[in-house]
Amino acid sequence: MTQAIDKDRVLIFDTTLRDGEQSPGATMTHNEKLEIAGLLDEMGVDIIEAGFPIASEGDFRAVSDIAKNAKTSVICGLARANFADIDRCWEAVKHARQPRIHTFIGTSPLHRAIPNLTMDEMAERIHETVSHARNLCDNVQWSPMDATRTEWEYLARVVEIAIKAGATTINIPDTVGYTAPAESADLIKRLIAEVPGASDIIFATHCHNDLGMATANSLAAVAGGARQIECTINGLGERAGNTALEEVVMALKVRHDIMPWTTGIDTTKIMNISRRVATVSGFPVQFNKAVVGKNAFAHESGIHQDGMLKNVETFEIMRPEDVGLTASNLVMGKHSGRAALRDKLRQLGFEVGDNQLKDVFVRFKELADRKKEVYDDDLVALMRVGEDSENDYLKIKSLKVVCGTTAPQTAELIMEVGGEEKSTTQTGDGPVDATFNAVKALFPHSARLQLYQVHAVTEGTDAQATVSVRMEEDGRVVTGQSADTDTVVASAKAYVNALNRLVVRRSKTAPGTDSREVSYKDVS
Ligand code: KIV
Ligand code: ZN
Repeated sequence: MTQAIDKDRVLIFDTTLRDGEQSPGATMTHNEKLEIAGLLDEMGVDIIEAGFPIASEGDFRAVSDIAKNAKTSVICGLARANFADIDRCWEAVKHARQPRIHTFIGTSPLHRAIPNLTMDEMAERIHETVSHARNLCDNVQWSPMDATRTEWEYLARVVEIAIKAGATTINIPDTVGYTAPAESADLIKRLIAEVPGASDIIFATHCHNDLGMATANSLAAVAGGARQIECTINGLGERAGNTALEEVVMALKVRHDIMPWTTGIDTTKIMNISRRVATVSGFPVQFNKAVVGKNAFAHESGIHQDGMLKNVETFEIMRPEDVGLTASNLVMGKHSGRAALRDKLRQLGFEVGDNQLKDVFVRFKELADRKKEVYDDDLVALMRVGEDSENDYLKIKSLKVVCGTTAPQTAELIMEVGGEEKSTTQTGDGPVDATFNAVKALFPHSARLQLYQVHAVTEGTDAQATVSVRMEEDGRVVTGQSADTDTVVASAKAYVNALNRLVVRRSKTAPGTDSREVSYKDVS
């Protein structure tokens, strides 16, 4: 099929819900996936890779529900190179207004060795599986995994086979983040120039960030002729992550003079989705992260401030508003009313219904009682961290911690465990350790703490602390978050939040599966 390709337009393919969500610990709930997909759709993402339908019942349901709800984005699912995967993928994406099947196989020498296929056998498998996918769906993407470490002759041969079998997009993954910008551009350029049929289809670039070159490699691939960039919000993804959507989109916008390609992304939605993904994935954004980091628009040194007051362009190449950061940081206080709160939340990208507003308003008042001035970041933290839900198995009723210069510290905890109120007093090496010991005494478990992270939301000694906790038990990884002006209370709530998720996960999955029966790395 020959398709019309707009040479000035770069398609944005977001894989936060597939490649991003597959990174250990980033697992999202069904509702969180639906919410993120809705935000991606709204911000103008062209293609959403919603998941890997054969991986589990949960993945299948998420992809189908996202497909049913999508308004304008193409909804894509991932499938390995076999009929069962492709059929399952089609069953999930077929509900979308615009479905796509994405099938792949590892083509580099190291990846070819896994399924133990000869080069000819693999070529035959590619022909069969792409043809099969194309019989089901007229939008088929094919990827030679680890393309950047595949021999040129073999890569050109299999790309040609996939095009002949009906692939409409060919994605060239740099699976291990190995390539460099000049090489990335040359590879795409050469494929388009030398493979028969290549100029009639779209080439995509899919980069990992192991050497910190994912954004540069993706943009170089576009210069070489690629017209689809695969990326994730905040660069979420395994190891060092994937290309960050916000970086490539803003680079194309800000440097349109030398990279004259446009995307369909409404960049003012970037900040909000970045915050949501950080929250639901449990992977906070580093402060100095390009575009979405807390310090990306902070100009604190005296020289910078002086320059900024004279002309904002002295140190700013993009305006905070362009990525959805409100210019003002209007302080709210305990006298601020419900309407003002709703208005402020709207400016920060949160649309709240009446019931949610009621709940947030109560928590806002509690916070304003403890903290003189409530800043934008405080409200964002309030929104990011939901209160305990009615269904939670564990609920903290009261916590009293005694600290001092002499160890050990003591925590007195009253907690509801499955509806029964229990209490304990435990000691520990510091207040947080004592508190976690108390939780564990009332709810014994074998989950291992993988991450405990504390951030101050704003400046000042009355600042709220946001705490993230990641835990692992029998291969299941869960995260928990909380925020409070008291760091120990925030820690306790985050810990309990993670344990509540673990309780839910235990009831749904067998040990060792982390909710997935197969991974995209399993070949067959
Ligand atoms: O990195 C990779 O190669 C992938 C493929 C499945 C496209 O994510
Ligand atoms: Zn990948």
